[in-house]
Amino acid sequence: MGLEEELIDRYKLVRLTTDEVSIIELNLKNLIKKFTTTKSRSIQKWEIGWKENLIEILNSKDFENALIPKYLTKSKNLRVNGKYYRVEQISDIPLIHHQIIDSLLRKLPKVDFEKIIELGAGSCNNAKLINNLFPNTPLLLTDWSNESISIAKHLTTLLSNKISGAFYDFFALENKVDLFNCLVITVHSLEQIGSDMTVLERILAKRPKLVLNIEPIVEDYETSSEAGTLLIKLHNQRDYFTGFPSWLRDNEKKGKLRILQSGKVKIGTEISEPYSFYIWEPIY
Ligand SMILES: C[S@@+](CC[C@H](N)C(=O)[O-])C[C@H]1O[C@@H](n2cnc3c(N)ncnc32)[C@H](O)[C@@H]1O
Repeated sequence: MGLEEELIDRYKLVRLTTDEVSIIELNLKNLIKKFTTTKSRSIQKWEIGWKENLIEILNSKDFENALIPKYLTKSKNLRVNGKYYRVEQISDIPLIHHQIIDSLLRKLPKVDFEKIIELGAGSCNNAKLINNLFPNTPLLLTDWSNESISIAKHLTTLLSNKISGAFYDFFALENKVDLFNCLVITVHSLEQIGSDMTVLERILAKRPKLVLNIEPIVEDYETSSEAGTLLIKLHNQRDYFTGFPSWLRDNEKKGKLRILQSGKVKIGTEISEPYSFYIWEPIY
């Protein structure tokens, strides 16, 4: 049984009716209109979001629950194999998300890394999964949001003294964080860079040992349904990640990197298809 079928079974997912799908499609059309003028990459919205998580982490006894980003608890609907389903309870969505991320992290080759660095770690919701798999390896959680970095620093005492936080801005020409010989992970953060491949050029130039990207790759989206086509339009309207597969292939041809694994978990949120992945290594 594939992961998609396993999740349908385990979480007793219910297929949406045609009428319910029509409502989602209408919502997608409205979102596409709304995002026409909302192209700015503002740091402010992230600071506000991650501050909310930080306050919950400080006030809650269940800090792991407080790490969940709010966008994972907005809708009970999700896409599996190009069809819409619903979970019984909203708290199942972050559990499904965790199971997918965990399964993709487990695809990494079992080699030692000096350090693991997550770029765009946000509320640091992936830290526990990464730390469980590599408990003895230092884990540096980075972001351009100061609130996110504060969360990472709290995890040093809450989760593991191997965890720390630091500033990293994708668009800065220089970052202090040294990626050399490290495992670099991104989860739904490169989605923010649009088609600016200079961000990746700078990561490649720092010569990490291995890179795992789990991102919405628009080139992998399914095109055979109305909803699939709308999701592509929405992705483009939000100025999300575009051009990554061809950037990787071009650089592979030039002998600058090697793609070790790639694929897609055919699961999406109501408004995105976020679980394509690439594992690649720079050659130098
Ligand atoms: C959708 S969130 C993903 C967070 C986290 N990786 C996760 O899986 O929950 C996108 C993250 O990218 C970060 N981000 C956006 N633009 C960035 C930039 N220019 N440099 C670094 N991080 C950025 C945001 O602050 C946010 O934390």
